[in-house]
Amino acid sequence: MFYQLLRNTHSLTAYIVLLTLCFAVVNAGLGWWQKRKYEKKDLRIGLFALIFTHIQVSLGLILYFVTPLFQSWSAMGAGVMKDAYLRKMLVEHPFGIVAVTLVTIGWSLHKKQKTDAAAFKRIFIFYGIGLLLILGVLPWKTWMAAF
Ligand code: HEM
Repeated sequence: MFYQLLRNTHSLTAYIVLLTLCFAVVNAGLGWWQKRKYEKKDLRIGLFALIFTHIQVSLGLILYFVTPLFQSWSAMGAGVMKDAYLRKMLVEHPFGIVAVTLVTIGWSLHKKQKTDAAAFKRIFIFYGIGLLLILGVLPWKTWMAAF
């Protein structure tokens, strides 16, 4: 019950994470390219993406220990690595945590910049790499099959 609720929530908030991150990356890329002034709305866009990425990873961390898949570690041990599905869910996908680290670093760095272009650039690069990493480790097949 709790597991299902958590899994569904983690699965739905994933859309918000991808949308807010994409939006923040495109907005920062354009701001940097067009040499635009860094405004309050840019701060909000970056902040929304940061918050949703953090929520997503926090849900993911709890989900990791409540999913029935987790028992595969005690049942199969290193055999988990030989099963493509289990390897994806229990080993590769959790690397999404590195993405949230990158996004957080990008957020703190951008605030320390002296020029608007440098602020946009930090968001573009760090959020961009974080987004690519998330796209790379998403369990696309199970996610799409759920709808
Ligand atoms: C921002 C990063 C993340 C995104 C966008 C994301 C997204 C997703 C999506 C879309 C699914 C598929 C849900 C379904 O099949 O309905 C999923 C499953 C899962 N995620 Fe994440 N996730 C992220 C980070 C994490 C992290 C850091 C962990 C754990 C440390 C984690 C743990 C899990 C687990 C265990 C499942 C499988 C649940 C199950 O099928 O029983 N996720 N995630």
